[in-house]
Amino acid sequence: MDLGIRGRTAIVCASSQGLGKGCAQALAEAGVALVINGRHQPLLEQTAQEIRQAWGVAVTPVVADVSTAEGQAALLHACPNPDILINNNGGPPVRNFRELDRKAMLDGVTSNMVTPIELIQKVIDSMSTRGFGRIVNITSVSVKMPITGLDLSSGARAGLTAFMAGVARTVADKNVTINNLLPGSFDTARLRNNLSLTAKRNQVSDTEAAARSMAAIPAKRFGTPAEFGQACAFLCSVHAGFITGQNILMDGGAYPAAF
Ligand SMILES: NC(=O)c1ccc[n+]([C@@H]2O[C@H](COP(=O)([O-])OP(=O)(O)OC[C@H]3O[C@@H](n4cnc5c(N)ncnc54)[C@H](OP(=O)(O)O)[C@@H]3O)[C@@H](O)[C@H]2O)c1
Repeated sequence: MDLGIRGRTAIVCASSQGLGKGCAQALAEAGVALVINGRHQPLLEQTAQEIRQAWGVAVTPVVADVSTAEGQAALLHACPNPDILINNNGGPPVRNFRELDRKAMLDGVTSNMVTPIELIQKVIDSMSTRGFGRIVNITSVSVKMPITGLDLSSGARAGLTAFMAGVARTVADKNVTINNLLPGSFDTARLRNNLSLTAKRNQVSDTEAAARSMAAIPAKRFGTPAEFGQACAFLCSVHAGFITGQNILMDGGAYPAAF
């Protein structure tokens, strides 16, 4: 399917690997020029080169912490008026909520709620004026279904979701959409790290922990960053202009409900 976004520009936050990279790759396949981002230069440069070679689009790597004012300024300097913004960031570590002090809580809220809101503030009016904008926030299945130890992540992302539910309606008539993609278990470095912790806790091998985790998903597997990216690219396409303010769950059927 032609997504109708060839020649558009996108900022894809936190995209040197994992889900962000999957989104960047799918947008590149659709002909979108990219700003990609991560805090570590070698991996980011490698990803930029990989995407350029595969799809021949312009890719500008911006080494920056997206949670900081300087990081956001660097991203917007590289692409002042993006047509597409993919909000992504690292997630807080797995922790018993009793161990979270105030700083840890504020950091979590900054990463997964305040940062995407700040970036949206900076791009939304220009998108509205130009009559095209696509914003996708990578949140989590944990917005709908608790995951033990990720309470801070769930809370911050639920805050972002509620915040954007209102904002999305104010720009829908300008062909600017804001949607959230909710990943379940996707095979990324973060998932593998979390599985390793579970394996240690349960005194099993990493392979066994992964097998148990997959067995609990109706699809009996983890999702791939590539399929996550394709869903994201569709939400950014010309065909998705009537989809806004939605929470789209991608979890292989793990969330056990009819609605
Ligand atoms: N994978 C899953 O199954 C899953 C499920 C639910 C929710 N999520 C959420 O989805 C998001 C992406 O997860 P993932 O699995 O793709 O993680 P990942 O494989 O660890 O990749 C994270 C990416 O974000 C970059 N990054 C992290 N913190 C950053 C920062 N402050 N500024 C700029 N870039 C940053 C990393 O690069 P650098 O380290 O070089 O900065 C890397 O490119 C996370 O918020 C995670 O909690 C993931």
